[in-house]
Amino acid sequence: MSSDSLGHTPVLPREVCELLSVRPGETVVDATVGLGGHARLLGESIGAEGLLIGLDVDPANLARAREVLTGLPCRVELSHANFAEVPEVLQQLSVERVDVILADLGVSSTQLDEPERGFSFQAEGPLDMRMDPRLKLKASDLVNRLSEKEIGDILYNNAQEFGGRRIARRICEARRGSRITTTGRLASIVADALGADPESRASKTHPATRTFLALRMAVNQEIANLEALLNAAPEMLKPGGRIGVIAFHSVEDKIVKTDFRDRHNAGVYRILTKKPVVAGEEEREANPRSRSAKLRVAMKT
Ligand SMILES: C[S@@+](CC[C@H](N)C(=O)[O-])C[C@H]1O[C@@H](n2cnc3c(N)ncnc32)[C@H](O)[C@@H]1O
Repeated sequence: MSSDSLGHTPVLPREVCELLSVRPGETVVDATVGLGGHARLLGESIGAEGLLIGLDVDPANLARAREVLTGLPCRVELSHANFAEVPEVLQQLSVERVDVILADLGVSSTQLDEPERGFSFQAEGPLDMRMDPRLKLKASDLVNRLSEKEIGDILYNNAQEFGGRRIARRICEARRGSRITTTGRLASIVADALGADPESRASKTHPATRTFLALRMAVNQEIANLEALLNAAPEMLKPGGRIGVIAFHSVEDKIVKTDFRDRHNAGVYRILTKKPVVAGEEEREANPRSRSAKLRVAMKT
């Protein structure tokens, strides 16, 4: 079965395989196994002697990946875990060092497309946004409990929403009437705060795009988790091992860029992508999600 038959196309598939240059017998960590698209490609390349370790915080995606990865020639170990915990997962599997780490950040199409997960401003649903159901706080907890300043900071720091202060003020006014519990209500509060018409064709992006991104990042602690993975990676990689990260917005791409550059300067990594690798015209046409993807790869020296 191909991952496409389950509705998912991995981004930059050719570039990921070429730059990570996975070889038979290697040990590969797919830190965001998702729907198994990249993992399947990498698993095919490592052959019967290889080990593929896949992590995801979302048990529903992990179950889909398990199906997609059935029949791979290599040993497959899937774990419901946060990629901030890769060292612990490796320890449990008695694996000391690995050849490849891949992280394809953000949410999957399945998460976005399921209104009850609360990720999308385009569909009415509960304001949840947790990728991992074990997390205690939902997006509704943040917008209803945090101070105006805290909300404004989240919007600006995570997604560079310049209207963050106005949006935060309007959220705090609105919640005095009743708790904000749905995606639709939050989206209309944001549009109202920005004086924007969500139906307008003048702007290509919905006015709530950055607010939803920023809250999702806060709920799932995406920046802290990314930093934890990047900090642990050099210890986990064998000499010559490769790490690839696909980012979808400038805040996370900058974190990856800075991390690789600093470790390159310290002699720990050699950067294999001087500029981030982006999708070609054909892929951008076929897979809109690829339009904002940026892949950076480094090799441990
Ligand atoms: C873009 S999708 C990955 C798609 C995958 N590369 C494929 O080809 O099917 C991102 C996945 O990463 C998972 N994820 C996000 N943050 C995570 C984290 N900190 N630890 C583990 N998984 C995470 C999400 O639940 C989602 O399934």
